[in-house]
Amino acid sequence: MRISVIGCGYLGAVHAAAMAELGHEVVGVDVDRAKVEALSQGIAPFYEPGLPQLLERNVAAGRLRFTTHYEEIRGCSVHFIGVGTPQMSQSGAADLRFVDAAVEAMIPHLGFSESGIEVIAGKSTVPVGTAQSIAQRVASTGAFVVWNPEFLREGFAVKDTLEPDRMVYGLPEDPEIAIRAQRLLDEVYEPIIDAGTPRLVMDYATAELVKISANAFLATKISFINAMAQICDAAGADVTALAGAIGLDERIGRRFLRAGIGFGGGCLPKDIRAFQVRAQELGVGDSLAFLREVDRVNDTVRLGVIHTVRELLGADYSSARIAVLGAAFKPDSDDMRNSPSLDLARHFAQEVASVIVMDPEAGPVLRAQGELPFEVAQTIDEALTGADLVLLGTEWAVFRQIDPTHAAALVKRKIIVDGRNALRATSWKAAGWTYRGIGRR
Ligand code: UGA
Repeated sequence: MRISVIGCGYLGAVHAAAMAELGHEVVGVDVDRAKVEALSQGIAPFYEPGLPQLLERNVAAGRLRFTTHYEEIRGCSVHFIGVGTPQMSQSGAADLRFVDAAVEAMIPHLGFSESGIEVIAGKSTVPVGTAQSIAQRVASTGAFVVWNPEFLREGFAVKDTLEPDRMVYGLPEDPEIAIRAQRLLDEVYEPIIDAGTPRLVMDYATAELVKISANAFLATKISFINAMAQICDAAGADVTALAGAIGLDERIGRRFLRAGIGFGGGCLPKDIRAFQVRAQELGVGDSLAFLREVDRVNDTVRLGVIHTVRELLGADYSSARIAVLGAAFKPDSDDMRNSPSLDLARHFAQEVASVIVMDPEAGPVLRAQGELPFEVAQTIDEALTGADLVLLGTEWAVFRQIDPTHAAALVKRKIIVDGRNALRATSWKAAGWTYRGIGRR
């Protein structure tokens, strides 16, 4: 099938490559010329495991190409929208300008599909009501809208796209059009559906809400365990043992109960804010008042770490050198949007003598940015050398594997704050380190 994917960022680039991998003829469209040039050569513009191979293979096979020209979407049967919906700085609402611009730019090129039906499938995370308004805007072109939210996680994006937990189709109201649109998407996703992936069919509003409520739930789960970490700290208990025990209850589940310096990234923080704004617009703002607390807890965990670092360094705080391990918002990604680790590095850089940051993938991105308030190390050893305190902010495997005895020989003072509860406390203590986790005795 001929498919277009509008927006080639973390979502769209992976989706375009994955659709080509399924055998479709795909054109990815983005307004960013540099990104399109890189992708056209089969080069991933960001770090995502598995994506370079997928791009290379499908670009070479001629099934996948990228362009800045919207007219190249003409004749495609399905157009996926995967542009960003960032947060508006003042209100916290979702900024729909990229979605709006994409729809406007697509309109003159719709209505040329030879397959008899043309579908716009929205994947971006949008406020409930957006699909309906897009459907009205494109009605005169004959194209139909389906809302088909994406649940991929960065770091696992390729796997999550090709082997998702579930597929959600928000379909138009007219039953006849709905069934035709559904069949078309089923054809696009045939191998995934044949593999037994649950495919859930619903209306636009529910599909839009499935996406944002899933992210709100995940954020709530993280803030819940971080609140428990604060209680554990005060009571002398251990949050990792607590999470392990409550997580064995199937109704609760162990995943997403890792206490630490909080959630970041391009999705959870902005989504919980946009969701609150939309609920207020709908006159049910009180229903989501708890998300304000979820956001607040997420901020306070970072304040807790600042307090711990001050306490551990005592009078030496302002003259200290702090090594921050990790700058990305999570491992296996170079994405630093709303990164708790980077936020802490910036904070400490204002208050202590020097900060050095090391991140295997985000490090080179940082270095390219220049003008930083801290140093960026090439290696872990370079970061550790001469440090008064080490803060683990992103739980990359290479950091989890650091030998505490080797590290002890490099630092000035053996103090480690494990901001992700990812290290073996006993090994670090045995090597003579003062170890502090989050909510861990
Ligand atoms: C999130 C959702 O998990 C995806 O399902 C969704 O599709 C995506 O947003 C999106 O809307 O596009 P992602 O932003 O890639 O995915 O990251 P997560 O794996 O959810 O992690 C978010 C943050 O929570 C990270 O900073 C991570 O370190 C933190 N986290 C996660 C914790 O602090 N504790 C945990 O137990 C889990």
